[in-house]
Amino acid sequence: MTSIKVALAGASGNLGPAVLKELLAAGFNVTVLTRQGSDKTFDSRVHVAQVDYESLDSLKAALSGQDVVVSTLNVGAVPKSTHLRLIDAAVATGVKRFIPSEYGCDTTNPLASKSPVFGDKVSVKGYLENAAQQSGLSYSQLLTGPFLDWGIQNGFLLNLAGPVALYDGGDRRFSATTLGGIGKGVVGIINNLEATKNSAVYINEARVTQNELLELSGKTLETKIVQTTDMEQEAFAELTKPAPNPAIFVPKFILRAIFGEGFGSLFDSEKVSNDLFGLKTLSKEELRGLIRQ
Ligand SMILES: NC(=O)c1ccc[n+]([C@@H]2O[C@H](COP(=O)([O-])OP(=O)(O)OC[C@H]3O[C@@H](n4cnc5c(N)ncnc54)[C@H](OP(=O)(O)O)[C@@H]3O)[C@@H](O)[C@H]2O)c1
Repeated sequence: MTSIKVALAGASGNLGPAVLKELLAAGFNVTVLTRQGSDKTFDSRVHVAQVDYESLDSLKAALSGQDVVVSTLNVGAVPKSTHLRLIDAAVATGVKRFIPSEYGCDTTNPLASKSPVFGDKVSVKGYLENAAQQSGLSYSQLLTGPFLDWGIQNGFLLNLAGPVALYDGGDRRFSATTLGGIGKGVVGIINNLEATKNSAVYINEARVTQNELLELSGKTLETKIVQTTDMEQEAFAELTKPAPNPAIFVPKFILRAIFGEGFGSLFDSEKVSNDLFGLKTLSKEELRGLIRQ
């Protein structure tokens, strides 16, 4: 059996290496797309295509013969037009499945979809829906909640260096997935192309609160309660400035979408595809180990 050909764009970032690792472990034939002039190095089993993301022809050349395109490109620093051009190239070269750069909050939720930070993801999804109606391309959005390990390591979900910001009190239960779990989710989609066709696919390895994570850390730390509505206001205020700083408004909007009311950050249990993909929920002990690592 010939192995499925998968192109991965953005394999060198925060998430990309974990996705690449799982794609290779699954035995797919992987081509990595990286920017021209890049000095990034990749696993020797990978074909590397240096591309000009501004050029449709360059992207078409890289995607020729591929079955699946997985994008883990940055969203924000990478302009929306680049994400759309990659879809155009996938359509033009007869790619079967496109997995856009989502991997976070449920951007199909009505409140979350209106958040300024998710505007590009919502537009990309609309573009894919249209492409799927007019061509042989299909898509799957992988929705995972925040990166669990990465979010603890860098203090975004829980600042274990203290003081700990407890958003809206720290009792909001939310879905979250590790980088490796997301990689397995991507593989799950590719191994279940029919079941995941043109749909939002949800996974989570934990359904947890900040206060539970803090308790599992075993640390006694100073805490402060932060209201996510205040953060949202501050983020909107930043957007009114002549040169809004993404380092200020992006995390505030995202934390609002994870810990605020009504953003769908705890995925419906019936909707998650963990069982289909063989993805486990982390036990309390595994969570404790992950936090204390
Ligand atoms: N749920 C969460 O907690 C969470 C957290 C972070 C990110 N995310 C999501 O995960 C996805 C990937 O994010 P990430 O943080 O892994 O991305 P990233 O590390 O910022 O960037 C990923 C890759 O994009 C490529 N790239 C191409 N053009 C670029 C440009 N102009 N500027 C920067 N990078 C460029 C680079 O690969 P080359 O150098 O090889 O070209 C880079 O390594 C996004 O959808 C993001 O929203 C979710």
